[in-house]
Amino acid sequence: MAGTKLHTSIVPVLLVAGSVANGLSFAIPSSPPANASAQLAAAPVGVSFEFFAFPEYFEGLPLTNSCLGQLQDVTGTSPPIRIGGTTQDRATYNASLTSVVSYSVASPDDAPETLTFGDPFMDLAASYEGTVTFGLNRRLDNIDNTIAAAKVAKSKISNLYALELGNEPDFYTSSDPIADGQTWTATLDAESQVSWQASVSSGLGDETAFTQAGVFFGLGSFEVTNLVPEEEDTNSTQYVRSFCHHYYPQSASTADLDELMSHEEIVEGVAEYQAQITAAKDLDKDFVFGETNSATGGGGGISPTFGAGLWILDYVMQATILGVKQLFFHQGTIGDCPYCWWEEAVNAPFYGAYTAALALSGASKIAELDAGDTRFAAYAIYDSDEQPARVLLYNSEYYTSGTRSSVNVTLSGISSSMVSAIRLTGEAATTIGGGGTITVAGQTFANGTCALEGTKDTETTNVAAGEATFNVRASEALLIYM
Ligand SMILES: *[C@@H]1O[C@H](CO)[C@@H](O)[C@H](O)[C@H]1NC(C)=O
Ligand SMILES: *[C@@H]1O[C@H](CO)[C@@H](O)[C@H](O)[C@H]1NC(C)=O
Ligand SMILES: *[C@@H]1O[C@H](CO)[C@@H](O)[C@H](O)[C@H]1NC(C)=O
Ligand SMILES: *[C@@H]1O[C@H](CO)[C@@H](O)[C@H](O)[C@H]1NC(C)=O
Ligand SMILES: *[C@@H]1O[C@H](CO)[C@@H](O)[C@H](O)[C@H]1NC(C)=O
Repeated sequence: MAGTKLHTSIVPVLLVAGSVANGLSFAIPSSPPANASAQLAAAPVGVSFEFFAFPEYFEGLPLTNSCLGQLQDVTGTSPPIRIGGTTQDRATYNASLTSVVSYSVASPDDAPETLTFGDPFMDLAASYEGTVTFGLNRRLDNIDNTIAAAKVAKSKISNLYALELGNEPDFYTSSDPIADGQTWTATLDAESQVSWQASVSSGLGDETAFTQAGVFFGLGSFEVTNLVPEEEDTNSTQYVRSFCHHYYPQSASTADLDELMSHEEIVEGVAEYQAQITAAKDLDKDFVFGETNSATGGGGGISPTFGAGLWILDYVMQATILGVKQLFFHQGTIGDCPYCWWEEAVNAPFYGAYTAALALSGASKIAELDAGDTRFAAYAIYDSDEQPARVLLYNSEYYTSGTRSSVNVTLSGISSSMVSAIRLTGEAATTIGGGGTITVAGQTFANGTCALEGTKDTETTNVAAGEATFNVRASEALLIYM
């Protein structure tokens, strides 16, 4: 028998905050193991902008371009964006409108009940360097208007990835124009989706592979697995480029940060989507989490925390392993958006997103080395030659105050004699940020510019006989460069 250090299994430990934990050990497979992901996208971490607020994000918040630029610097590719959300299904295209968008609200924190948008809206979307997924209206049942908008989007946005035809139809009701007085069901929705796909295709000159289908909220009867048979029966899969679900693990009423950031919970939550992802893959279509974030309704205060940033990091790894091409983290109404990555300041969750982008930068595949049944996560990330490039360690123990537990992790199978690492850490999972209380490689993002401030702290560790040991505290992650 080889020594335990060569085993890939985890030494079972019960990690209780404050207790002394035993060490863990993981062997890094020298090539991607059988349970590794498929080929990863160049930029898995994307951003979704609420439809009506999209112009304000780019024209009114300097941090939008600078923080997206930080992600681009890391991956070498502009993060993909999606423009959509609830207000996409309240929006009507107006070809005569000379302003970007037109609406009125009683309070600046409100989302409009109705709005119109013009060609300048499309021009703004077209000026973005990365790919754009554009959300069009189905709820109002004005297909001529949607086709008119689709034509302009298609002609102006050279980086157009896909058009959505409606947002979260799970929430359509019999009083929405599209329902025509009928009870809105998943069956009716599937018929409506394929009918709209055919009409918009025809309007675009028999365009194929142009739409992001589904756009469902969570799971239930409105699922890709239920839409696919209708797509197939009507020969409509030709119109689909990607299938999409929206995922918010928590809501304001259930908000629990301890649960949100727990590795086991993240594994379980994402795994619930496996059948949807497989259904898309079986048709050779992409699957995306086209709108996602920590909690609906702002999540009762958990969303702006460092722990929510740690959730993003682990969630992106789990989703990409399961075959999710990209995740679009939603940015909602400016001024009323606890999970937003930036407004006037750079917010705590962005640190997790940035670290996720760093971890997957230039990577071909990722594999989970742990079994997904403890609070501790370990991932091996492979470069384009399928050699181990990085290991990401995440200790998802929930730390708030007092004695901070930690885990010693021994990695084996390292070919170099010394490795470097950067740490994502914060004072506590509950930390909101500011004053250097959250850092990545010892640095913080400047509020005005999103530039990294402070001296970069790279930790080096000697490797002996292919092994090295790393300490990861509760509510912390370590990215090791092999
Ligand atoms: C479209 O925009 C033009 C120019 O602002 C305006 O005069 C017109 O009323 C708008 N049409 C609709 C239907 O909102
Ligand atoms: C499905 O659509 C494609 C593309 O228009 C066409 O070539 C094919 O014949 C259609 N198949 C059926 C069964 O109608
Ligand atoms: C993936 O495979 C590795 C071995 O190559 C194993 O140690 C690990 O537990 C597996 N992970 C999961 C989540 O199945
Ligand atoms: C980790 O290893 C160091 C050095 O051997 C040791 O001092 C420390 O107690 C260990 N920590 C845990 C949590 O086991
Ligand atoms: C950024 O702004 C936040 C909130 O306005 C503040 O708490 C924090 O200290 C600022 N960060 C820096 C690095 O100045």
